[in-house]
Amino acid sequence: MTDTFLPPDRLPAWQLLHAHRQRLATERVAELFDAHPKRFDELSIDACGLLADFSRQRLDRNTLDALIELARQARLPEGIDALFSGQPVNHTEERAALHMALRGGCPPPVADATQVQDTASRMRTLARDLRAGVLKGASGRPIRRVVNLGIGGSDLGPRMVVEALAGPTAKHPVMVHFAANIDPQELDEVLADANPAETLFIVASKSFTTAETLANAQAARAWLRTALGPDADLGAHFVAVTNAVAAAVDFGIAKERLLPMPEWVGGRYSVWSAIGLPVLIALGETGFEALLAGARAMDEHFCNAPLAANLPVWMGLVGLWNTDFLDQETLAVLPYAHGLRNFPAWLQQLEMESNGKRTLRDGTFSTVMTAPVVWGGAGTVGQHAFHQLFYQGTRAIPVDFIVVAGGEDPRRQALVHNALAQAAALTHGRSLDEAAAALRARGADEAEIRRLAPHLTIPGNQASTTVLLPRLDAYSLGALMALYEHKVFVQGWIWGINSFDQYGVELGKEMARRLSDATSTAHGDGATIGLQRAIAALRRGAPYP
Ligand code: F6P
Repeated sequence: MTDTFLPPDRLPAWQLLHAHRQRLATERVAELFDAHPKRFDELSIDACGLLADFSRQRLDRNTLDALIELARQARLPEGIDALFSGQPVNHTEERAALHMALRGGCPPPVADATQVQDTASRMRTLARDLRAGVLKGASGRPIRRVVNLGIGGSDLGPRMVVEALAGPTAKHPVMVHFAANIDPQELDEVLADANPAETLFIVASKSFTTAETLANAQAARAWLRTALGPDADLGAHFVAVTNAVAAAVDFGIAKERLLPMPEWVGGRYSVWSAIGLPVLIALGETGFEALLAGARAMDEHFCNAPLAANLPVWMGLVGLWNTDFLDQETLAVLPYAHGLRNFPAWLQQLEMESNGKRTLRDGTFSTVMTAPVVWGGAGTVGQHAFHQLFYQGTRAIPVDFIVVAGGEDPRRQALVHNALAQAAALTHGRSLDEAAAALRARGADEAEIRRLAPHLTIPGNQASTTVLLPRLDAYSLGALMALYEHKVFVQGWIWGINSFDQYGVELGKEMARRLSDATSTAHGDGATIGLQRAIAALRRGAPYP
């Protein structure tokens, strides 16, 4: 990797982009459509069956070209090459990021290929046996329910994919559930109607040190022990997926029930590894292979297509434009599919844990904004909750609409219409004159029009991208997930941050450990001590001190 790193704002293209910002400051996207009939063609791109339309963004083709020039000056091709050739792009931890090897896309070289193959085939056998009812619990009953115990990357990816593609698993040969929170309520709810003799737990933790997952695994063991008796072989009810094999063995997981995950796959990039076991169980091999195939196609596209025709590159650059040149602080992600309701949660970890950073490759600190706050929820639900702020609030909030074009069910067309309508309405808004005309058409008198018209005006010019999926299937979802993974890489590379470590989250974990280890009731700073006293008083039934 290059050691001649320059922060992006020291590249000539950065200054040029400021000129584009000035130039476009007074332009309205609605008018740009009128002035440039080819705008959609110039600013949309398709790859691997997905189409992304950037024509509702507050830029034009010249700006996109200047952004591509920025990527060139930031040596993005060298970065993509470093990623796919297995160089230590995770430079703080001196590791490569090789998740693409798990799906075979432009496969980077891995030293432990035999072990990776072996794990892949063992997880397939396990899933096959489970789905065939061959895998038995301690009392000889077939396993009918699997509960994944993991958090963060060991939960969000498989949970989102299972929700998106498997539908309710109650009718499946094996039901698949998830518990992540250290709050016992989540696991209690999952186990409320479960039969311990037919339940298998997957303890999913790369590090095998995560407090939430270990607490849930211990609770699961206690639940099984109480139900199955002191002599039951609880090993028949556990599988572990981890990089810390010795810690899992210490916990009591049988060696043959251990699926190792390589060190070079980051938690938030791990659904493609054995962390994807719940997906494999819920969808079967064909579904899991199609998920990998979609991601693989996006890998091939990302590593081979020139910058000017590269979908993840465009998406990363447009996001960077919004963040750094239009000062947009958040990104709302709105999948118009109930199955994808947790896509924003998965994406939050991917974007914010990867690029929510400020330290640059050379150890200096970024002087430009990095990852936006990613949030969102399923369309059309959000239309009746938070879209009001998009229309008439005081902030500019770019939106990614994720729209499923086809599918068997004609009732889903309403989702498409709503998504397209929302995107158009956010672009065009409603002027004061249009509001007055609408009121007049409803029969309002002039006084009423003067009073109400300002409240009906909508500034518009809110930026959005629409990503079209041909259908909500495993292949398209795999491609979509890999698209966002690579978008994150593009941005991290140009910003000059390491997208693959997560030192920030360690501080909170460390403080929680100190608080739970503390023997004295009062521990920490003034606020913590004050709150601890209040909590202790509440627990005693006393008033606040
Ligand atoms: O605390 C953050 C984090 O380390 C994430 O990066 C990770 O996905 C999650 O916790 C769970 O980690 P593990 O798989 O090691 O339990």
